[in-house]
Amino acid sequence: MILVGGPASIYLAEKLSKLSGIELLKIEHKLFPDGESYIRFPGRVEGEDLLIVQGMHPPQDRHIFQACLLAETALDLGARSVSLLAPYLAYARQDRRFLEGEAVSVQILLKLMKAAGYQKIYTVNVHSPWIAESSPIPLIDIHAEEALAEHMEERGLKDLVVVSVGKKGECMARMVAERLKVEYSVARSTRDKKTGEVKVELGDLKLRENVLVVDDIISTGGTMAKLVQVIKARGAKRIIAACIHALMVGAAAEKILKAGASEIIASDAIPSRYSEYSVAKPVLKKILEEG
Ligand code: R5P
Repeated sequence: MILVGGPASIYLAEKLSKLSGIELLKIEHKLFPDGESYIRFPGRVEGEDLLIVQGMHPPQDRHIFQACLLAETALDLGARSVSLLAPYLAYARQDRRFLEGEAVSVQILLKLMKAAGYQKIYTVNVHSPWIAESSPIPLIDIHAEEALAEHMEERGLKDLVVVSVGKKGECMARMVAERLKVEYSVARSTRDKKTGEVKVELGDLKLRENVLVVDDIISTGGTMAKLVQVIKARGAKRIIAACIHALMVGAAAEKILKAGASEIIASDAIPSRYSEYSVAKPVLKKILEEG
């Protein structure tokens, strides 16, 4: 197998290659003056099985099209197979027709990846894990909760309680809390389908010195900020806002910090200034297991 570092995720491909010793091919890439992408494979890929590492974080549509260019070109150059590692899978929040006439975007995206020639897609904490069942292409969801918990442990954070929101959040909070051997609590949230406004209701919470709030994604920061705000109102001293995917749209960080969080941490599934822990280990483990 050869790892191919696509323009969106070269940093992660490098980490995976370093950890595993698997050969890395860095794609030559530039943008033409009009914004179109140029892609070139600088080495031979004939007869090889390639794992193309290319996330779909913003600018999503550009990164998605680059993923298409990478697969089609690799196969055209004689690669035996191409699989995709998209640490962040875009459009996963549009997994159904919420309002009449809407595009079911994630289904279209998955079809597109299959048509480009990918055999399977690995991703990390996909927003809508249930889409794997109806996906036209095998979709393998890798969990990064343990990596987050290990990171908190390494930081030596003691006297901690974990909080999350919603059903998926509950699963995430449980995984992190079990790994850290602490308690967790889950809030309920509702979002207005048209305005996007989020309401959060917190249940029982036994406060500790540190409150670790976990969510899969921080996008506009609305959900995390609301959650932090209600926890703060209960008298929490130190709140750490943690996620896997930090999209951090607009003033997301300011909102969360203003609500009372003392810091924001995220994985490197999406590269950002908040990337404090890496998804490389769980990703590599899964890839090697799958063969
Ligand atoms: C919701 O299901 C997710 O787990 C996140 O809470 C949500 O996507 C975050 O979005 P935002 O930051 O825009 O509130």
